[in-house]
Amino acid sequence: MDESQTPLLELRRACFTYPGQRDVLDNLDFCLRDKDRAGLFGPNGSGKTTLLHVIMGLLRPDSGEVLFRGSPCRYEKDFQAVRRAIGLLLQNADDQLFNPTVLDDVAFGPLNLGLTPDEARTRAQETMAALGLYGFEDRLTHRLSGGEKKLVSLAGVMAMRPQALLLDEPTNGLDPETRSRIIDILNGLDTTLVVISHDWDFLDQTATSFYTIKAGRMVREDDRTFHTHVHSHRLGDLPHRHRP
Ligand SMILES: Nc1ncnc2c1ncn2[C@@H]1O[C@H](COP(=O)(O)OP(=O)(O)OP(=O)(O)O)[C@@H](O)[C@H]1O
Ligand SMILES: [Mg+2]
Repeated sequence: MDESQTPLLELRRACFTYPGQRDVLDNLDFCLRDKDRAGLFGPNGSGKTTLLHVIMGLLRPDSGEVLFRGSPCRYEKDFQAVRRAIGLLLQNADDQLFNPTVLDDVAFGPLNLGLTPDEARTRAQETMAALGLYGFEDRLTHRLSGGEKKLVSLAGVMAMRPQALLLDEPTNGLDPETRSRIIDILNGLDTTLVVISHDWDFLDQTATSFYTIKAGRMVREDDRTFHTHVHSHRLGDLPHRHRP
């Protein structure tokens, strides 16, 4: 089968309910094709994070199917293949980081993919440099600031060079310059992307199709009008550039 024709990932009539709660996903359909750049927004508690966890097999749907390259994922080994191909940045960086030092954490994914320790280290260092994480190799992950943790988590996911990135609120807690750098980095990648954000400006700059979850179903919402608002920041009277 021609890979480029088969969607990277599909959810078909996926249902998911946490014990004792209302349905979070209710017969949800979603199709992610190679090179899609999907922005997902919507109210707190609408099921965005749950959706990404179901895609990765961290939560299993009560009914319905997850298909990876057209094949239904039923067993752990099926989802292991998903997790080798698709990288998930968790909403909470503390859930993502578990190695004592930053370098070990960023190199962990590449090592798991079968790179040698030297290759994994080089890959980790390259990715950290791209994210501006200089001098962080030996820092202790649990002592990083919130924004630093987010960046190191992102480095760990990107170091695996996945076919798709699922990013759950990647810019939360990041300063404007770092946020801009993330936008440039994402736009420089030829990767399929699903990005959850409450930040419209960020979504506008990184995604090309837009979705929200309403009553447990995915709803396409492309009829948005993007326009610029007046904004303020320090040193605004000095020459500086904004995107058009
Ligand atoms: N582990 C859990 N156990 C029980 N209920 C949960 C659990 N995780 C999430 N929920 C509930 O499921 C619903 C969907 O949560 P989810 O985290 O997917 O929402 P979200 O759209 O990502 O929200 P946010 O924008 O706040 O991150 C919420 O009502 C939440 O309270
Ligand atoms: Mg969430």
